Amino acid sequence: MKKKVDFLIIGSGIAGLSFALKAAPFGSICLITKNSLEETNTKYAQGGIAAVTYPPDSFNKHIRDTILCGDGFCNKQIVETVVKEAPDRIKELLKWGVDFDRQPDGNFELGREGGHTEHRILHHKDNTGLAIQEALTRQVKATPNIEILENCFAIDLITQHHLGELVKRSRKDIVCYGAYTLNLGSREVDTILAKTTVIATGGTGNLYDTTTNPSIATGDGIAMVYRAKGIIENMEFVQFHPTSLYHPGERPSFLITEALRGFGAVLRTADGEKFMSKYDKRGSLAPRDVVARAIDNEMKIRGDDFVYLDCTHLDPEELVNHFPNINKKCRSIDIDITKDVIPVVPAAHYLCGGIKVDENGRSSINRLYAIGEAASTGLHGANRLASNSLIEALVFADRAVNESIKEILKIPFNDKIPEWNIEGTSHPEEMVLITQNYKEMQQIMSNYVGIMRSDLRLQRALARLEIIYKETEELYKKSTLSRKLCELRNLINVGYLTIIMAQNLHESRGLHYTIDYPQKKAGAEF
Ligand code: FAD
Ligand code: SIN
Repeated sequence: MKKKVDFLIIGSGIAGLSFALKAAPFGSICLITKNSLEETNTKYAQGGIAAVTYPPDSFNKHIRDTILCGDGFCNKQIVETVVKEAPDRIKELLKWGVDFDRQPDGNFELGREGGHTEHRILHHKDNTGLAIQEALTRQVKATPNIEILENCFAIDLITQHHLGELVKRSRKDIVCYGAYTLNLGSREVDTILAKTTVIATGGTGNLYDTTTNPSIATGDGIAMVYRAKGIIENMEFVQFHPTSLYHPGERPSFLITEALRGFGAVLRTADGEKFMSKYDKRGSLAPRDVVARAIDNEMKIRGDDFVYLDCTHLDPEELVNHFPNINKKCRSIDIDITKDVIPVVPAAHYLCGGIKVDENGRSSINRLYAIGEAASTGLHGANRLASNSLIEALVFADRAVNESIKEILKIPFNDKIPEWNIEGTSHPEEMVLITQNYKEMQQIMSNYVGIMRSDLRLQRALARLEIIYKETEELYKKSTLSRKLCELRNLINVGYLTIIMAQNLHESRGLHYTIDYPQKKAGAEF
């Protein structure tokens, strides 16, 4: 099947859905997602969405917190843009039907998380992401101009490469004409031609064997752009959330929101020591990189598999009322959060880097935008401030729509694009080769490219990953296409980029911590 649309949007999280809603008045839209519309990282977001609402908070404070957390690597102009445009994007969310918790006087009830100096997190109980995903999904389904294709997997972007035209001069000549997609029902490969293509494919949590991310987070968009010779940056900055529920065998790991620490919960070792003040004067509410490293260190020193998060001193009624989702989950495994401490471990959570974009979400490839977690905008620098991700996705979706509609009428379709012509041959029993390599890749990344790194570990990781890379590329050439095989291939691509970029940064900075290079002071300027 060959299809022509004005906008092809790949991904149905907050970034893809909000782009679709805003672009719908300006052209035809095809929004594809490899799973159901609702299965996204967005759906699992707990703590909330950061935006300045009332004094004593101010734009300057939110800007300062973001830059301090980013450890000197944030783009100050982008930080200012996101922080200042955030309140308008929140108004749109309210208009689309998202319901944030309020106090009896009608004002928003604001939460606080690590690295924030004010209460500024709008939230819906402890399942803010679900509230956002459901509201946006309802709106998108009710908008006539948006065609939704579920179980539709984007395999590769279409560029001049598929026309047999080599881009000789420079990267800036590359043009995206849409994408080849695999219909996971019929197993056919379709060609979707688009005037503008938008990558909103989310993060890469499944690179690691412990992650808070659902199985869709396999870095597909980043890998596609890399293969199309677009610019990828800052992949070494992988954020580990300090507190995921320790419950061996469960995947994804259930998140215990940082908002719980903002509410007064404290971290303790198995023997009850409140250890965080040894590491940072902000204690349990220090930024995530600091807390995750401190937990990792305590676990290693003591030989423990987890530390505890203690809420037992908090008002039980308020606790359960504010965190019903966490209460329910913990109850299901016989933990009463009002009486028992919660075992927690760090887990891969968020990717700060990704597809390099400008202030309007434009990638280095013409007619290709990237928004949401797949994009590297400059907001997060070397470490993302909690709850800055959902708001970044909204701000950049809005800016990307405003930019892309300026030229949509002038862009012609390229009718010379050939249909997909890579035909595989082999049989389903090859599946074991895929699943084994998937596990090995996760072990390599977790053991060598995790919270603490070293030159030797990174070198080992690269050597091991290269073997898996070669095997998987061979398999890809001769196999029938499957989602799992494409995802493995994509993860290997993004794993490779993570290792290479980590090797190239000869210092410890934000989320990239290596025992071979000393930690530098943040170079942030205010
Ligand atoms: P996603 O929501 O991940 O959506 C990606 C979409 O792309 C999915 O629809 C997926 O199916 C689709 N897709 C991927 N590859 C393909 C392909 N090849 N073909 C077709 N479709 C594809 N951030 C905050 O700001 N506040 C929070 O409180 C917060 N809590 C979090 C809690 C958890 C447990 C997790 C995992 C993350 C949390 N985050 C939070 C981070 C935030 O949720 C994500 O960064 C954000 O939701 C990403 O949105 P997105 O639209 O970019 O991608
Ligand atoms: C959390 O609720 O702790 C996650 C917030 C985030 O990742 O921004």
